[in-house]
Amino acid sequence: MSFKKVVVAGGGVLGTQIAFQAAYCGFDVTIWLRSQSSIGRTQPKLDLVKADYLASIEGMKSGKGPWCMGIADPDSFDADACIAKVEAAYKGIKLELDMKKAFADADVIIESMSENKNAKIGFYKKAAPIMDAKTVLLTNSSSMLPSTFAKYTGRPDRYLAMHFANEIWRNNTAEVMAQAKTNMKYFDETLAFAKDIRMIPLPVRKEKAGYLLNSMLIPFLFAGLDLYAEGISDPASIDAAWIHGTGAPKGPFQICDVVGMKTCDEIVSMYLKIPSFLAPYHFKDIHKVLQKMIAEGKLGVASGEGFYSYKK
Ligand SMILES: NC(=O)c1ccc[n+]([C@@H]2O[C@H](COP(=O)([O-])OP(=O)(O)OC[C@H]3O[C@@H](n4cnc5c(N)ncnc54)[C@H](O)[C@@H]3O)[C@@H](O)[C@H]2O)c1
Repeated sequence: MSFKKVVVAGGGVLGTQIAFQAAYCGFDVTIWLRSQSSIGRTQPKLDLVKADYLASIEGMKSGKGPWCMGIADPDSFDADACIAKVEAAYKGIKLELDMKKAFADADVIIESMSENKNAKIGFYKKAAPIMDAKTVLLTNSSSMLPSTFAKYTGRPDRYLAMHFANEIWRNNTAEVMAQAKTNMKYFDETLAFAKDIRMIPLPVRKEKAGYLLNSMLIPFLFAGLDLYAEGISDPASIDAAWIHGTGAPKGPFQICDVVGMKTCDEIVSMYLKIPSFLAPYHFKDIHKVLQKMIAEGKLGVASGEGFYSYKK
């Protein structure tokens, strides 16, 4: 294995999943948390993640659930062995408030704190003098570029991004992205580590907002929404054109319903502020469509209705 001791900074939705996945794969894992009250919030999240792993294993065993490549390969699946690994992971994860103790001898620290620039800078400044010289520092940030933070880390050569997807035991991609000062030796080590924790390692050799997936997905969703907002066609026909024309499982409106209308509108609102000749979409009209749906409570799958109805 490339690394041995793994530290996750931040015990939120993604932090607990990353910690659990690394522990499941046999790594020595510590979650660093900033306060006693954070422990009270993180422990129930770990309980939920454990329950999700166990339910997924049951689903894989019965054939009723989706296959989770983060948990096992189909040709060597042994449910009892997987359950034993889940129990060992759950028992093995350490929660630590003392940054010095948590970071001592860490091979890798994965920062997975809230998506807040100043909080992240504050964390890097505090961590920089404490981390071992050997430690590789990774950020799981979804929307911020690692070059924004490299100068605060005290190790720009060993600092890069490793971006996970939610429910990593099933959606097991790791987009590994370098910034200009990253030494590619650590980029390669991080790709190997991603494999060691059963992720599909996806190299992003230069900085790119949106990594690989969102760089493709967001323009795709805009293109579909634009066809609807400009009255060119309706959601079901636009989805059908995509699905039957390419063999893809979902069209843009089915994806928008899963992502949720509010998140879609937040993204559109960001682009409203940046007029771009590269994006020939009618963001004001798209924003109006999404605002109307939000006002009508049509938020997507989560609310039972979006562009489609999910009411039973
Ligand atoms: N939720 C997702 O689907 C998802 C997917 C991929 C990547 N990410 C990224 O992962 C990171 C974490 O996201 P999340 O969804 O787990 O967030 P979250 O809100 O669930 O958790 C954030 C954690 O950061 C901690 N935190 C906040 N400020 C802190 C500070 N100043 N010092 C120490 N700890 C602090 C909080 O206590 C909490 O444990 C973000 O950068 C996000 O962009 C999220």
